[in-house]
Order: sequence, then structure tokens, then C-alpha cells
Amino acid sequence: MNNSIKINKKIKPYNTKIIIDGDKSLSIRWVLLASQAIGKSKAYKLLKSEDVMSAIICLKKLGVKVKIKDNYCEIIGRGLNSYNYKNNLILNAGNSGTLGRLILGLLVHSKKKIKLVGDKSLSKRDFSRVTEPLKKFGATFYPNKNVKLPLSVIGSKFTKPINYVEDRGSAQCKSSIMLAALNTPGITSIKAKKSRNHTELLFKYLKVPIKIKKGTKYDFIKIEGGKEIKSFNYTIPADISSSAFFIVLTALSNNSKLLIKNVNINTSRTGIITILKKMGVKIITKNKKKYKGENVADIFVKSSKNLKAINCPSYLNTSAIDEFLIIFLVASKAKGVSYFKNLSELNQKESPRLKLGSKILNMMGIKTELTNHSIKIYGNPKLKITNSIEIKNYLKDHRIFMMSTIAALTCGGKWEIHDKDSVNTSFPSFLKVISQLNKNEKI
Ligand code: S3P
Repeated sequence: MNNSIKINKKIKPYNTKIIIDGDKSLSIRWVLLASQAIGKSKAYKLLKSEDVMSAIICLKKLGVKVKIKDNYCEIIGRGLNSYNYKNNLILNAGNSGTLGRLILGLLVHSKKKIKLVGDKSLSKRDFSRVTEPLKKFGATFYPNKNVKLPLSVIGSKFTKPINYVEDRGSAQCKSSIMLAALNTPGITSIKAKKSRNHTELLFKYLKVPIKIKKGTKYDFIKIEGGKEIKSFNYTIPADISSSAFFIVLTALSNNSKLLIKNVNINTSRTGIITILKKMGVKIITKNKKKYKGENVADIFVKSSKNLKAINCPSYLNTSAIDEFLIIFLVASKAKGVSYFKNLSELNQKESPRLKLGSKILNMMGIKTELTNHSIKIYGNPKLKITNSIEIKNYLKDHRIFMMSTIAALTCGGKWEIHDKDSVNTSFPSFLKVISQLNKNEKI
């Protein structure tokens, strides 16, 4: 089957509202935490993507009952440390770093050896960042050093709580440690560089004994482990990382307006809004609500002219970490030279995004200066692409596909973009939502 799309026309103006698929971080966390709770938990609007399905398949292999219905997913948990599985189990995290890293936190007690595998992209990514702290709880990993997938883990009967400093600003590492702490009697202390805090908010909602002291750069988290949690229902709000592609599509299109309903706007995720506003994009959040500790709102965005370059402050990096590709696209149409720094983590994602993002901009005729951790983008507000561009996306990175599609729809040129199926990992309805923009009812 042909797995590429061809685009040779810019998108026509639109004025409409859309609903975006559920948040991936929250969906995976709900699935994993529901497996630790006692009783039946239900999630509505759970993201039905490959990453979340991989999580569900892993849990089923670990003996957890999961039912997927049309409008909800049900998980019947048996409490902490209750996984029940056969010898020589193999779990497949697919493309998902979040699943691969978080689930290891739940396996620090595993009685039998479990092998964790992933796809080509995930197998290139670093797992020492979680195996090092998880070893301190008592788990053993093979290989022991410079860990990548495939890896094997065998837990310990006598796990002990740890003190740990998480210095990368990685929510995946922090959450992996938090899940290990949940299952480990005693008090685990984490000094964690600020990153998305969904796990903390869910722990609070679930009444896990947790104390958090907020500093400017770090949060100090203490968790008392070994306390059972009750089953819980959750309605997953829309994903701001998926919404970001439509925010930028609208900002860079002519005469368009868009309302995106019910998006998670947790401040640990809204770097994209802060950065784009500084660059002159017209965005308003409306109808703000609290939902089980999370902030949710509708996002309104308009076509925006006279965009300005940005010298992006590094403190915004973690809250926009998944959005930089699409932010780079805005920078390529802004007046002046934009500068993004301290971003080496971007090369550790599903593909080396700092490098590949720069390459795509170069193919579009935009000058960049790239290092291993920074990029300067020489914006061109008059950018009009006339040549042909083919995006090969060798690691099938969903966000490389989506960024290229938005570039094609807003900058002109003749594009062939490969691996459209990659969107199934995070945002299965991406192309459908685009095709409906001109057909939906007006705002
Ligand atoms: C995620 C954390 C981020 C992000 C990823 C999802 C999470 O990764 O890039 O897409 O759900 O915790 P890091 O924690 O490695 O920065």
C-alpha cells in the first residue's frame, strides 16, 4: 500500500471548531495506574493510538483484564504488585518511550525475568536514564550498562525506597521512579528538574501519600509507597501536542480561524502557547476549567501576520519539548533570526529532531545554523516554495510527518511525504481532521 501523501496546494481558508484526540501522556498514565488500582476503572476519550494500544497489550500479557468498548476502556486492577504472568515474558513497547520507561518502574518487583523490546526507533533510545535509578530500588537489568532495548529486567522481593536527583527535566524518568516508589514501602525522595507533572496530579487525585515542594528549577517530591489505590474513572482531555499542529496550521494560513475544544493546558505543557504568543501568533484560551487537578480550556487561534523571531528562553524547553519541530516552522516564516538553545534532548526523541528539523527547513530554502544542542533559524516572511520536496522520515517519526504536512499546506511547493501511518502512534485522526476543516460548521 502507498504510505506517502502528496501535497501541491496550500490549504483554503477555514473558520471552524475541531476536536483533537486524547492526550497521550495522560492516556498511558491512566492505563498503567488503573492496572495498579483495586477494582474496575473506566476511561472515556482515551487516545486509541498505537502507543496506548501497546500499553494495553503489555498489561494483558501481565495478566490484567482490559475491555475496549466503543466509547470507553475498562481495566480491572488487582492492586499493587499484582501482575501475574508466564515465564520468559516479552513485552513490546512499540514506538513509545513513555510506555517503555514508565512500565519498567512497575516491574521493579517482577518475580520472573521479563524482556522489553521496541521498534527500530525506540531501540536506538537511551534506557540507562531509567535503569540507573531503578537499580537502586533493587531491580537487576541486562545489560547492566549503556542500556538500550532489548533489555531484560528481574525485580527484587526486597525493594527499598531511594533518594534521587533527576537532572534532565525528563517526565518519563521522574514518572518511572514515581511508579516504582508507589510499589515500594517507605519514603522515596526525588529532586526533579521541572517537567510535565501529570503523574504528580494523578497521585494526588488518587490520594497516594505525596508531598511536593516547588522550587524555581526543581520540585522536591516525597512519596510514601506501598499504600493501595482505589479504582478511578477519567475523561481524557485533548492533547496539546497534537493541537499544536493545528494551531500552527491556522497561524500560518490566510484568513482562517480555529477553535480547538477541551485541550489539556497544564502549564507544564503550554510552552508552545507562550512561545508562539511571543512570536506574534494570535491565540486565546477560553472557557478554562479544572478537571481532577488538570487545567483544561478551548484554544482559539487566528491567521497571524508580522511574525517575529524569538531568542527562546531555555526555561521553556521542557514545557514545549514535543512542539519544537512545529515551532521551527513558525520561525522559518518569522522576521529575523530565531535562536533555540540547550536542546540536546531533542535529538533523543523518536528521531534526532533537532538535526532532522533543520534538514527539512534547509530543503524548504531556509538557512539554519545547527549544533548538537542549538539551532539558529533565518526566517523569511516572504517564503514561497516552488521546488519539489520529498520527506523520507527513515525512523517513521510521527511528528516529522505532521510538521512536513503543515509546512506543505502553508508554504507551497510540491511535496511527497512518506510514512503517513506514523501518525497512528499519537494522533490517528490527523489527516481526517485536516480534510474536514473546510467542511465543518463555522465557529
Ligand atoms: C513524556 C515526556 C517527554 C515527552 C514525551 C512524553 C511523558 O519525554 O517528550 O513525548 O509522557 O512523560 P521526556 O520525559 O523524555 O522528556
